[in-house]
Amino acid sequence: MRFDVITLFPEMFSAITDFGINRRALEKDLYALHCWNPRDFTADNYRTIDDRPYGGGPGMVMLPEPLLAAIEAAKVAQNQAGNLAPKVIYLSPQGQPLDQAAVKQLSACSGLVLLCGRYEGVDERVIKHSVDVEVSIGDYVLSGGELGAMVMMDSIIRQLPGALNHNLSAQQDSFEDGLLDCPHYTRPEDYRGMTVPDVLLSGNHAEIRRWRLKQALGRTWLRRPDLLDQRVLSKEEARLLSD
Ligand code: ADE
Repeated sequence: MRFDVITLFPEMFSAITDFGINRRALEKDLYALHCWNPRDFTADNYRTIDDRPYGGGPGMVMLPEPLLAAIEAAKVAQNQAGNLAPKVIYLSPQGQPLDQAAVKQLSACSGLVLLCGRYEGVDERVIKHSVDVEVSIGDYVLSGGELGAMVMMDSIIRQLPGALNHNLSAQQDSFEDGLLDCPHYTRPEDYRGMTVPDVLLSGNHAEIRRWRLKQALGRTWLRRPDLLDQRVLSKEEARLLSD
């Protein structure tokens, strides 16, 4: 998977490349990251990337020309890497909400171009001309798209085969089966009087699976009932619960 990120702050992306699972995945060549700074696509001495909004109002809007030039350069590089039609994604609060189903779909792409805005956003014509999909990571406003792009990248990278130590880890994540995750425990068995549920010490794997499913269903029902609205039990789940 190749990520090309259009950003005024490429240094921020060391948060992805330099730590933990994402760092190991990079070392294993499971993904590549290339940043393109719109300032490098300006023609004036001040390297101007923004201007005041037509119609007035606070803040600045990112100019179309440097952004479109950066996106074009990123797409050419993607093409040269063999990705003929990389999706161009603009991170913004106006976008479609990112959820685990979207993450899974995106993780099947071989190349993505991520456009990060700053200030009040980008000139609308950039979106019209070059953006395939606008994505939001939640109903709140960030100072720029970079953190959104990194959230998206992190959630995609952990889906790439070989990224996690244990192949089952991604499958056991919250949301993978449409439910919140069950509780987890490690040593000691008794921590300040709080003990690990007996079933987890029993060695009875069928019982443990049943307990985990019940916990996941119960937590989802209590904390996120909206997730259960359109969900039906799978055959295996129905069998586990009726055993
Ligand atoms: N940029 C600013 N706010 C954002 C959000 N909520 N999601 C994605 N990108 C953003």
